[in-house]
Amino acid sequence: MPCAMPWTDAEMNATAPAATARVARIGSIDDLQCLARRRVPKLFYDYVDGGSWSESTYHANEKDLARLCFRQRVARDVDKIDLRRRILGHSCSLPLTLAPTGLAGMVHADGEILAARAAKAAGVPFTLSTVSICSLEDVAKHVGGGFWFQLYVMRDREFVAALIERARAAGCGALVLTLDLPIQGRRHKDVKNGLSVPPRITPASLLAMLSRPAWCARMLGTPRRTFGNIVGHAKGVGGTAAFAEWVSQQFDRTVSWRDVAWVKRQWGGPLVVKGVLDADDARLAVDAGADALVVSNHGGRQLDGAPSSISALPEIVAAVGHRTEVMMDGGVRSGQDILRALALGAHAVSIGRAYLYGLGALGEAGVTRCLAILQDELEATMALCGLAELGAVDRRALIGADVAHSRQAARLASIASAAAPGTQQAVPSNEETAHVW
Ligand SMILES: Cc1cc2nc3c(=O)[nH]c(=O)nc-3n(C[C@H](O)[C@H](O)[C@H](O)COP(=O)(O)O)c2cc1C
Repeated sequence: MPCAMPWTDAEMNATAPAATARVARIGSIDDLQCLARRRVPKLFYDYVDGGSWSESTYHANEKDLARLCFRQRVARDVDKIDLRRRILGHSCSLPLTLAPTGLAGMVHADGEILAARAAKAAGVPFTLSTVSICSLEDVAKHVGGGFWFQLYVMRDREFVAALIERARAAGCGALVLTLDLPIQGRRHKDVKNGLSVPPRITPASLLAMLSRPAWCARMLGTPRRTFGNIVGHAKGVGGTAAFAEWVSQQFDRTVSWRDVAWVKRQWGGPLVVKGVLDADDARLAVDAGADALVVSNHGGRQLDGAPSSISALPEIVAAVGHRTEVMMDGGVRSGQDILRALALGAHAVSIGRAYLYGLGALGEAGVTRCLAILQDELEATMALCGLAELGAVDRRALIGADVAHSRQAARLASIASAAAPGTQQAVPSNEETAHVW
């Protein structure tokens, strides 16, 4: 993607009001991505902008969303548009959460604290990853409680139980249990770049970092440069040298639904199960105690060749949408994408890369800008579709999408016809069905 941002880094760094005016002119997530690419060292930029193996699922997430066309409606009084949604019982300004992303504190110094602060100010939940740089306690100290915490079930169950306790003590509002990582998908870019935390000093990594001096200066100015939730907390991991060894042993292939029920008992609060892509798994997750699901393929970073999240969504909503809140993530880069997901039955979306691009571009101000862009785009798209409230959004907002060339065309078409009545995505009337894929 060519970078179309007209300003130099020095201009972007200028103090207010010139910089504020420039930030306001950043019009899209693409603009933020372009700035992030210029400002974040290649090995960390690639870590964000990468998927597993051939990256086919990573790209399918975006492409399948983009294929869904809106139904333009006119003269429907869209003067006041209400974008608020209750998520797990809390009123949010948008139907959106910030997904857990490991190493956000390497994209920008103190990244998790900055993103959590921007999310709080915008009125949407932030989710802290197990493999964050800033720790649970650090984020709680700087931002207050209420953020969500994402958990991997690792082999050391004592450590997992202790993490759950720490999340409770930090005042976390929900626990997000990620299930799609029993082993790590191979990400070629990370292997080639020799990604490690903190970065191993090789001629190539040194060059990559020195070419981003502002990033280096901020990193040198913070003590937060390793995995804050783990180093010093997990048994035998007092320093970063032992950490790599520990991680490689900790991914647990034995995780089963019994563990999900165990986590639910340990936690006792709202539990979100993340990484579900199959209707049978969705039913099992709800049976095991999930209060919400995230339909997700980990942003195309795990099972390459898995369906896009948007194509898996309707079937899962049809299966469990009447029992639980079904969210989705993967490929959401605009307010238009949010509306597409809601139209196919998502209760809310999560964003990963979209906010990381903002973070890499401009720190907290970049995440704030990302959320403002998504809000503006969602509001404008709803207006142009003649929709004044989220409760009125269903698949009638979409018309026949051109999915003919999609690898998943057949799946999408069968999903469209499988949608059951009585779920959030009400089946359209006959008059309207003809237009809907
Ligand atoms: C850089 C990066 C790191 C991630 N780290 C985690 C993680 O630690 N835990 C997790 O459950 N998901 C993780 N994910 C997946 C996200 O939570 C989310 O599923 C994904 O980013 C959604 O796709 P999108 O980036 O296209 O919005 C990560 C994603 C990215 C891009």
